Amino acid sequence: MALIEIEKNLDHWVKSIMGITSFQDLEKTKAELIGKSGVITSAFRLLKDFSGDEKKSFGERLNNIKSQIETAISLQKKKLEEYEISEKLRNETLDITLPVENSSFGGLHILTQSIRRIRNHYLARGFLVLDGPEVETDFFNFDALNIPEHHPARQSHDTFYLERFNKTLLRTHTSCVQIRTMKERGIPVRMISIGKTYRNDQLDATHSPMFHQIEGLVADRKPITIGHLKSELKKFLAFFFEVEDVAIRFRPSFFPFTEPGMEVDCRYTKKDGKLIITPEGDKWLELGGAGMVHPNVFKNCGIENEAFGFAFGFGLERLVMLKNGITDIRNLFDTDRRWLEYYGQ
Ligand code: DAH
Repeated sequence: MALIEIEKNLDHWVKSIMGITSFQDLEKTKAELIGKSGVITSAFRLLKDFSGDEKKSFGERLNNIKSQIETAISLQKKKLEEYEISEKLRNETLDITLPVENSSFGGLHILTQSIRRIRNHYLARGFLVLDGPEVETDFFNFDALNIPEHHPARQSHDTFYLERFNKTLLRTHTSCVQIRTMKERGIPVRMISIGKTYRNDQLDATHSPMFHQIEGLVADRKPITIGHLKSELKKFLAFFFEVEDVAIRFRPSFFPFTEPGMEVDCRYTKKDGKLIITPEGDKWLELGGAGMVHPNVFKNCGIENEAFGFAFGFGLERLVMLKNGITDIRNLFDTDRRWLEYYGQ
């Protein structure tokens, strides 16, 4: 292209550069004009046909045009960059005044809520709230609780044993924490422990291979009677079910670590299909086990001479299900969001 034509086109080029809206188009135009085989670059090659002043003025005019184009390109590039940044900022700002579409923020599972409630209740009453390991030895899970090897009670526990570790198992109940507590701290002691327990049970509406137990123990050198146990259980159950009073009865039962041992029932009635715990109830509901601490248990914990105590063990899931009208234990371990939202807090 002749110099005259180039000069005529300059305005048009600069204008069109200023109208470019993408980096890609800008690069393309740059190549077409001042790239290796661009119009301006090619024009420079004509310089060699000139000489003297003519060459000088041709060169100057061409350089001037080139620098005007370069300036226009770099200005436009800057403009595009600024635009890009402001677009990014605009798109990425979080408008905290927008209404929330999904108002679900998650919450505490009903079992967690119940564990915390029970913990707080007993902490407020001066009990120790203790934990024990879920992987136990058969000494703490059985022997020390007066369940020696070959005792039939071992069979009924459907224990999960750890294959490569001798005499090691997943605890079948929280009663092991009684042993750990008395071995470590001696008596007098007032404690509860809430935790996971495991049994090789098929999962169905009322069984789960993992469930929680609440274990309680009160032991002293001073006489403790079944009357104390009864009063404690009434207090706990009234608190748990949030009722004024609970009528309970003991049915004789057998636990090797208690003497005597009993099953605890409470009075209830059904109204509109709902279970209501009330002393006026006409039916009995089975809640858990309890008893007076067996002398062998004290002995196994290194406690000699006269000692007295009561203990109880309740299934947490059962209590939670009764209180909340839940009929299938599997719901407690499912991930149905509607269920979790309904019972969550
Ligand atoms: N450990 C028993 C069970 O899992 C429950 C139990 C019964 C605990 C009587 C106690 C007790 O502390 O005294 O079936």
